[in-house]
Amino acid sequence: MENRPPPSPFKEGCLKGKVALLTGGGSGIGYEISLQLGKHGASLAIMGRRDHVLRSAVDALSHHSISAIGIEGDVRKEDDALRAVESTFKHYGRLDILVNAAAGNFLVASDHLSPNGFLTVIDIDAVGTFTMCRKALKYLQKGGPGKDPSSDGIIINISATLHYTASWYQVHVSAAKAAVDSITRSLALEWGTDYGIRVNGIAPGPISDTAGASKLGPGELMEEMQQMPLFKLGDKWDVAMAGVYLASDAGKFINGTTLVVDGGQWLSSPRR
Ligand code: HXC
Repeated sequence: MENRPPPSPFKEGCLKGKVALLTGGGSGIGYEISLQLGKHGASLAIMGRRDHVLRSAVDALSHHSISAIGIEGDVRKEDDALRAVESTFKHYGRLDILVNAAAGNFLVASDHLSPNGFLTVIDIDAVGTFTMCRKALKYLQKGGPGKDPSSDGIIINISATLHYTASWYQVHVSAAKAAVDSITRSLALEWGTDYGIRVNGIAPGPISDTAGASKLGPGELMEEMQQMPLFKLGDKWDVAMAGVYLASDAGKFINGTTLVVDGGQWLSSPRR
């Protein structure tokens, strides 16, 4: 059963007037980030491959009085990326925040993974993240169309902790997320300096009720939990609150970091 999240520690309107585009924003962690950005005042465009998922997400968000549109598209297609960014601008007249949450994942031993399987995940996670950033640059930059001249652009790339050490059956995802972290740092340097865009990442650890967690069996999940200093799984809410923090002025001096939201799991080992 999912825990009822505590009340938000952030001000309700801390993102009021902001417009956010989220890839993979219709389900899982991406949806929870959509929900929390919306609850804190942002208007949303959510992009995903599945129309029915987008429709039900937009419907659920509307029950929270959150303004949201769904844009069907695949981050692997440059035309879809451009259309998503342009449709967001056309609908809302500005773009402040880009969240790259679209990801592909499956567990497979590396001696059974085809080169195309490897490429597919790199293409979604790493190339897709860069493509979305690149297409959104014109709108996100300080002084971009429709924005207050003083308002920063924000990019948040959803990563993982798999590649900090090594993870079984995840050679493709580990490589892809390592690339995502590298993109975060490079763009933070170049675009922070040249365009007033803060680029950060969030690296969730084991989070309950997600596609990532459901791929691990209950036994493996329990094992991961027992190695965690906080001895529990995280909630999607924990990840989303990191998103609100990085997107809001609370994070105005944070640039080029990837915030780990895992209860300390990646650095822990069994007690001896
Ligand atoms: C081995 C597989 C495979 C599997 C696909 N492939 N699934 N190989 N085991 N289970 C291979 C295919 O054989 C093919 O290679 C290539 O990958 C492309 O597969 P397609 O099915 O044609 O691609 P596509 O339809 O584009 O689907 C992409 C996908 C998709 C990534 C494979 O299944 C998907 O989006 N899955 C779910 C996404 C998801 O779980 N998102 C949450 C991510 S959580 P060949 O050589 O045969 O052509 C996350 C957190 C990370 O990212 C941390 C978690 C612990």
